[in-house]
Formats: sequence, C-alpha cells, structure tokens
Amino acid sequence: MSQAPASPGQRLIGTVAMRWRGTSLELLDQRLLPDQEIWLSLDSAPGVADAIRDMVVRGAPAIGISAAYGVVLAAQSSAGADWREQVEAAVRLLAESRPTAVNLFWALERMQGRLAECATREDAIEQLVAAAVEIHEDDLAANLAMADHALGHMNAQKPISVLTHCNTGALATGGYGTALGVIRRLHETGLLVNAFADETRPWLQGSRLTVWELARDGIPVTLNADSAAAAILASGKVSWVIVGADRITANGDVANKIGTYSLAVLARFHGVGFMVVAPSSTVDMALESGAEIPIEERDGTELRQVRTVPMAPASVAVFNPVFDVTPAGLIDAIVTEKGVVSRPDTQGMKRLFG
Ligand code: MRU
Repeated sequence: MSQAPASPGQRLIGTVAMRWRGTSLELLDQRLLPDQEIWLSLDSAPGVADAIRDMVVRGAPAIGISAAYGVVLAAQSSAGADWREQVEAAVRLLAESRPTAVNLFWALERMQGRLAECATREDAIEQLVAAAVEIHEDDLAANLAMADHALGHMNAQKPISVLTHCNTGALATGGYGTALGVIRRLHETGLLVNAFADETRPWLQGSRLTVWELARDGIPVTLNADSAAAAILASGKVSWVIVGADRITANGDVANKIGTYSLAVLARFHGVGFMVVAPSSTVDMALESGAEIPIEERDGTELRQVRTVPMAPASVAVFNPVFDVTPAGLIDAIVTEKGVVSRPDTQGMKRLFG
C-alpha cells in the first residue's frame, strides 16, 4: 500500500480505492481514513450497494466502477432459470444506493447493455467482468487525458497555487483523480507551488482524504476551513479553483459537493479561474439544467456529530444537502477527456457531447 513520495517529473496514480479479485471486490473503507487503513471484501451486490450508501466508497467515478463490479458479483451468484432477472434486480438495488452522481446510472446502463447481448449465464459472467474492468481502466485513462487538457488550458507560465474542494483523487476514481489529477500533473511538471484543500464539511472529504492523498504522494498541500476560502482567494495566492463534478447537465450546470457553488461565486468575485474536471461519464445530456438534478440529503447525524462525538444538541433540526448546483455562468472551463468546454453553455456542451 505505501509508496515513495512523488518528485516533479514522476507520475503516480495514487492510492487506489478498490481492487477486483475475480470473485470479490475489495474496498478501502474511506469512513476510517486517515487513521485506519482497513480493506473490506465484498462478494455480493447488496454488499456493494450498502458500501456505496454508507460511504465506504464515494466519489462519482468510484461509485460507478464499484457498482459495475457489483453487477458482476450478482451474475456470479445467480442461479436457476431466472438468473437474468436476478442480475436485473441487483442492478435496480445498486441504482437506489445514491441519487446524484450520474456515473452510477451510466455504469449500470453499460452493464445492462452488455448483459442484454449475452445468451447464457456463463457468457454473461465473462462479458460482465470484461465490461467492469473496461469501465475501471477507461476511467484512469480519462483522468490522465483530462490532466493534459487542463494544463493546456491553464497555460501556466510559472508555478501556481490552486484551491480544491472535497476529494477527487485516486480514492474517488479509477486512479490519479479528476481535479486532484490536475493538481498531480501540475506537481509532476514542476508547476505547483501549493494546493489549498477545503476541509469540506460535514463529511470532511478534504481533511480526511484529500490532504492524506496529497501528503502521501509528496505533493504540497495546506488544509483550510471551508470558511477560509474567501480570505485565501482575496489574498491573491491562488490562480485557479479546481473541483470535480457529480453530474453536468446539457447547459453546463454542475452538481458537486456542497460548498462548490459558494466557491464559484467567490472565484468570480475575486477574478480567479474556476475549473471543473470530470470524465464524460459525469455528463448527463438528458437533463437540460441543474434544476433537474436530484440532490441527495443525508442524515442529520453527519452535522450533529463528528464521527461519534456530539457537536450539537441531539434533537436539533438539520438541513444536510450534500451537493449543490453551480450555474454554468460561473464556470470558466469544464475539462473532460474529450476536450475542454470554455465558458460552458448549451451550444458548447452540444459541440462536445452531441
Ligand atoms: O459525497 P461524495 O464524497 O461521494 O462526493 C464526492 C464529490 O462531490 C466529488 O467532488 C465528485 O464526486 C467528483 S470525484 C472525482
């Protein structure tokens, strides 16, 4: 698991979040990081659905990849004449695990398409394994390509600092990362001074995961409270805010971790570039605008407690939406493996995604 720190010029894909073992899926339990590195071994689709719902694995692309392996596990444990219906039932169960990241539904649709092409259970198992591995490998390849596109777009002439939100790294993807992949690439090319990482309340993806990932790979990072972002941008220290996405609609609106919208407003106010980095599996051209994106609300205990420690009266009412929608008008660039949409709008999105 441990690896030597990266030095400029070197490319490391980061600490992976999942390992396919042929008949089981191993997930690094992200609820326990950074203090414990525990791998869970899952051998059923319901187990994978629970792991996604409970945030053992999280991050849009990683959710999609895990669900794809969950479909494989369903096929492997199916039996009898209605084996196909058993796999379809598992697909429905996995689809209910989390609502916002479209990568989940994209991956399940791809797996269903492959299933439909297979006449026998044996053929289906073989084909579904191949499809899931392909989704996994394609995601890593997309991340590497996006980092190239992003650096081309930034055209930094000297080392810069950036600010990021949530965790978009190897832990959230098939490896390397989306926004965090861009930060990796800046570091690899000697163009990164420092990455500021929002702590990302309430689940603390920034302090528990992003800071851990970057520090582990020897990439300079400074943790800040979410509420310090305005002061950091006002200081002029940061050239770009770089974030990931859970769903991007046909007009270029972006759903991402709660707090992303306020960062985009702050970036525009301070004249700092705002970049969204996501694979094309995050693009949902079936939705016209962000108003149509289902926004997940999670249990109030995530705010009333930090892990098991109370931080508020146990009975207080809580509003806990875990994503928000950043309007396209506040975004300078959406970077995908297919290319960059500058100043996104419906026309620009259609040009790249049809
Ligand atoms: O609730 P999470 O941790 O699954 O939310 C993750 C995010 O919002 C990420 O920014 C997004 O999924 C992109 S990950 C490459």
